[in-house]
Amino acid sequence: MIKKALVLISALAMLVSGTLFTASAQDEPTPAQRAAGAAETRQSVFKLLYFNLIPIAGMAQGAPFDAELAEKNARNIAALAPMIPDLFSAMDTRDFDVETEALDVIWEDSAGFAEKAQALFEGANAFAEVAAGGDMAATLGAFRGLGGSCGNCHDDFRVDND
Ligand code: HEC
Repeated sequence: MIKKALVLISALAMLVSGTLFTASAQDEPTPAQRAAGAAETRQSVFKLLYFNLIPIAGMAQGAPFDAELAEKNARNIAALAPMIPDLFSAMDTRDFDVETEALDVIWEDSAGFAEKAQALFEGANAFAEVAAGGDMAATLGAFRGLGGSCGNCHDDFRVDND
């Protein structure tokens, strides 16, 4: 059901963007503008990942436990994770002067990068399953697996700033 809806939505989106592109063919963005846009887009996905992780991390640090919220946010993270490799293969920004913390190795070892995104996907799904059971200790116990998969990728693929 959800898959079908998604296919429909993306088909519609393609129609709409097709029309838009035709309409604005003259002011196509320059490669530098596209690169800046690509960096902004991927960064907004990381902001969304962060937004969803924060309440869970809060619970792990003693905020009131809310199993439903924990499960929902973990499922949001699982939905976002597969977009990470796509966002980077969409445009290689290495040769552009964009504001980014992405390391060049992302495009040199795209398989390794995709593995880290897959680990986040799996960690988020596994966490959501435990949270769905409603048990606080078990859920918080599973947090490390989820939170760790963010840091595991940052260690290798992002400018070291934490
Ligand atoms: C597969 C690798 C990977 C995974 C997994 C990953 N990140 Fe990142 N993250 C990056 C990279 C690369 C950047 C730098 C992007 C850029 O600056 O263009 C980044 C940037 C960020 C940023 C800064 C965004 C900004 O404002 O510019 C935040 C916040 C962040 N990640 C949070 C998270 C959280 C939370 C998770 C886990 C739920 C996570 N990341 C998982 C690779 C990853």
